Amino acid sequence: MNDQSQIAVSCRKLTKTYGEGSTAVVALRGVDLDVKKGELLMMVGPSGCGKTTLISIVAAILNQDEGECLVFGHDLSNLPDLEKTAYRGKNIGFVFQAFNLIPMLTIQENVSVPLLLLNKSMNEALDAAAHILERVGLKEKMKQHPNQLSGGQQQRVAIARAFVHNPLLVVCDEPTSALDHKTGQNVVELLREIVAEKDRALIVVTHDSRIFEYADRIVKMDDGRIVES
Ligand SMILES: Nc1ncnc2c1ncn2[C@@H]1O[C@H](COP(=O)(O)OP(=O)(O)O)[C@@H](O)[C@H]1O
Ligand SMILES: [Mg+2]
Repeated sequence: MNDQSQIAVSCRKLTKTYGEGSTAVVALRGVDLDVKKGELLMMVGPSGCGKTTLISIVAAILNQDEGECLVFGHDLSNLPDLEKTAYRGKNIGFVFQAFNLIPMLTIQENVSVPLLLLNKSMNEALDAAAHILERVGLKEKMKQHPNQLSGGQQQRVAIARAFVHNPLLVVCDEPTSALDHKTGQNVVELLREIVAEKDRALIVVTHDSRIFEYADRIVKMDDGRIVES
């Protein structure tokens, strides 16, 4: 892993504390992590150990206190907000644990949002959304609204939205937790297919041992640190 051109994500000595004084919570205590291009990395660890915090920093949704996080060689924490948002919008996809779908939009419209933010035309965005919804098996639901779908279906919509703009890096927070075995497998097979396309990288936080076989590597976190990788 010495060849920098093959590294997608490189974190060094990352620390993060929420709050101050007596209520401060230390979430990251110095995390080192490398993810290679083409790699599907899974991350496991007990609730509260810092997994969501770490992937939020990697996806430039949250800034670390100290340490460095490079994404394809870019230190996003140092960019002005507008540039950071632009980089994230083009290159990074995020599957949130809580899906974060927009209730008043249809499924197809929800999935097209990342493309509209990249100034694609409405038609192009809706076409691309329909295409990826077909890949996650939800084409027949695309005119419906999020509250008309089951938890598992909403999770697949969130996954479709994270991938619709072909990002280089996708981070997923427990993407199969609401899915039955077969659907979970389909989703992770889809993730595998997409990451196999050149130079992409995928970080999946999961408790789901049924999908471990799809990982290139599994890292364990505990109490704000990577304890095994
Ligand atoms: N916005 C926040 N404000 C205060 N504490 C937080 C916040 N987000 C997370 N924490 C705390 O930071 C620690 C790590 O949380 P998190 O990264 O969500 O862990 P995990 O995803 O592994 O469950 C936990 O103790 C959690 O309670
Ligand atoms: Mg979490």
